[in-house]
Amino acid sequence: MSEIENIAKQMVAKGKGILAADESTGTMTKRLSSVHVESTPENRLKFRETLFSSEGMKNYIGGVILYDETIKQKTSSGKTIPELIKNSGSIPGIKVDSGVKKLAGSPDEKITEGLDGLRERLAEYYKLGARFTKWRAVYNISDKYPSELSIKSNAHALARYAALVQETKMVPIIEPEVLMDGNHNINKCYEVTAKVLKECYRELKLHNINLKGTILKPNMILPGKDSKDKSKTSEIAKMTLKCLKEYVPNEVPGIAFLSGGQTEIEATQNLNEINKINDTSFLISFSYGRALQQSALKNWSKNIKDKTITQKIFNHRSKMNGLSTSAKWTMDLEKQISA
Ligand code: 13P
Repeated sequence: MSEIENIAKQMVAKGKGILAADESTGTMTKRLSSVHVESTPENRLKFRETLFSSEGMKNYIGGVILYDETIKQKTSSGKTIPELIKNSGSIPGIKVDSGVKKLAGSPDEKITEGLDGLRERLAEYYKLGARFTKWRAVYNISDKYPSELSIKSNAHALARYAALVQETKMVPIIEPEVLMDGNHNINKCYEVTAKVLKECYRELKLHNINLKGTILKPNMILPGKDSKDKSKTSEIAKMTLKCLKEYVPNEVPGIAFLSGGQTEIEATQNLNEINKINDTSFLISFSYGRALQQSALKNWSKNIKDKTITQKIFNHRSKMNGLSTSAKWTMDLEKQISA
């Protein structure tokens, strides 16, 4: 097995998933101001270091996605952040896109940028310890959107990114996110996600990507946030698995969902339901940002000097999601915060 194929498997090994702690400074500032903490480099590091040094990392987190600022920071004891992550048996990764811009030709939609100079940046991140990367494309659902232009241009950028990453011997996470915003029903989400995935894999094959050395980070198939359609978790799981079976090639070793605005419990429960019926060879796991950090951040903001309770909350969330990768999560376990 090649090195990248091995890394991809470790990132989503049974019982483990990925912590997406790669919020850009702008997004992190919004998250911190929502809990009335000033967004300084020191405070952003303090929160992240609290999570990365918790016990939950060892058993449940196979990889951590970092942001450019964090991968270059040092802990209070002088270790680099990638060293801290590696010490707990997890793999450091890095977000390498430079965010979304208006898509010229269809300005209500978005295109992800960051290909210029990427080869050089990847070499630098590899030296800093990163072994996998992330690139996120976003698609909005409405009567008109996503357009063919947005589906094609984002898939093309994702494939060019993935080729450069594999050239540098790192694993690319392919993240095409169909947003939850809107009042569409679950069938519409299925239809759009299907089109997006189909085009992504067409482009990835065209660019000669070794799919065994990639991880897919998709959205679950969900009704829009403002929809009257309140699909049950069993329906969400059925539709999500059906879509993956149909449009994701078998060579892909792992699928790690984004949480995308689901509550912490919804994200865990839905993943658990998907794994209950998973009859594929895919390792199906999580790559959550908000759904792993929200409660921890809220608690941390009450006393940023006290790590203990924040870590306890993060350990619990990690454990609950870890259990859901093997369909072993229950609502009763959810109530027993012990970590
Ligand atoms: P959420 O789980 O909060 O959607 O974040 C995942 C992510 O990495 C988005 O790019």
